[in-house]
Amino acid sequence: DLLKEIKHLEQLFTIDTAKLKEITDHFVHELEKGLSVEGGSIPMNPTWVMSYPTGYETGTFLALDMGGTNLRVCEITLTDQKSEFDIIQSKYRMPEELKTGDADELWEYIADCLLQFIETHHGDVTKLDKIPLGFTFSYPATQNYIDEGILQRWTKGFDIDGVEGHNVVPMFEAALQRRGVPIKLTALINDTTGTLIASAYTDTSMKIGCIFGTGCNAAYMEDCGSIPKLAHLNLPPETPMAINCEWGAFDNEHKVLPRTPYDEQIDNDSPRPGQQAFEKMIAGLYLGEIFRLVMVDLHDNREINIFANQDIEKLRRPYTLDSSFLSSIEEDPYENLSETADLFQNKLNISPNGPELELIRRTAELIGTRAARLSACGVAAISRKKGFKECHVGADGSVFNKYPHFKERGAAALREILDWPEKTNPKEDDPIEILAAEDGSGVGAALIAALTLQRVQSGN
Ligand code: BG6
Ligand code: GLC
Repeated sequence: DLLKEIKHLEQLFTIDTAKLKEITDHFVHELEKGLSVEGGSIPMNPTWVMSYPTGYETGTFLALDMGGTNLRVCEITLTDQKSEFDIIQSKYRMPEELKTGDADELWEYIADCLLQFIETHHGDVTKLDKIPLGFTFSYPATQNYIDEGILQRWTKGFDIDGVEGHNVVPMFEAALQRRGVPIKLTALINDTTGTLIASAYTDTSMKIGCIFGTGCNAAYMEDCGSIPKLAHLNLPPETPMAINCEWGAFDNEHKVLPRTPYDEQIDNDSPRPGQQAFEKMIAGLYLGEIFRLVMVDLHDNREINIFANQDIEKLRRPYTLDSSFLSSIEEDPYENLSETADLFQNKLNISPNGPELELIRRTAELIGTRAARLSACGVAAISRKKGFKECHVGADGSVFNKYPHFKERGAAALREILDWPEKTNPKEDDPIEILAAEDGSGVGAALIAALTLQRVQSGN
């Protein structure tokens, strides 16, 4: 019966404190491995962002953010008032076809959006040759310099031939040149690094930048003496270097994460099986899909046969439910789950009965809770590795900002992992707090471009 099925799902998806701690222990080890000469499955990419902002950076910068869902172009002016800036921005949709299309089409589209932005705000493009650009390219990239990005592999469902293994900067610049846009890319950054730097601009206790959105990842400031894979450069050991962890790749070897058959199926059907094991259990791109697979399984393969005698054709379409669908289920305020019933009717043409609605709600809770609790393992691992006892963590992304209870569930898990005593006063701050970040791919990209120019000018 349904109750038995709920119990079964609870067993599959619940991660208790002991398991959270075991995952975190392994995570710390894997972070270190990623920094070593041999390397590990977490890339731990040096980003050449080598200082925090002071708040007194100035200048005007363009920023381009090629995220999973949107393409955003901004112009940011860092003013001479401490930590203050002006921003104008335009958002463009990132057409779904582009993500699995052809490389030229991708660069042409991005260059067109940038050109359109410049023409709207400045008219003549040729007048713009002095504006430096920070390009937020949020995929794992090898950087030997800050204005280089050799794509290691596509993530977040992207699958475009001819880019992996190549430096994306010349491809992008060529598309700009064909349009006569005389822009020089100053820095290629990751959204997590942007988030770290933008957050630290207004709050100096920010020590980790995280994205919980379409993908899931974090960046923090390491010292070069703890990065054996950079030892050949002979940088002074105390030199700071922001590391883009690319922790989505944590446990690609499947040593510790309690993967369910649904996680395995997501992985097998993805364009890059075997990659991003951690991300595929947490990130917004996958939450709705995990839920869909559970529902289809409970209809087809398990004895209870939910939605009996109904046409579940729409539910059978891969990636038909995004994480906002799960958010809405978890947000349904009514005891009888009438909003959830409407959602199923409108989106999927399915009319769940009362007990099925209970099962739907519980499944959403289990998937959302697991994602938040696993996320906390990453934050705890970086904190433990760096010895952070008290700090702020800046977080951005649709899951962090919009998914119900994500923050509280993550905070509760962090408390369990790090053995903090119960709060005596509920208003008391946690020693390590995950807070909403400043705009990483806007002001973060501008700040990194500013810091890069300062470094170049000072000859370091
Ligand atoms: C945005 C940041 O707010 O969040 C981007 O500015 C980031 O840099 C994005 O990539 C991540 O969220 P999502 O949900 O769009 O993947
Ligand atoms: C994916 C990308 C990573 C990015 C994250 C969040 O994990 O590989 O670069 O930071 O998504 O957008």
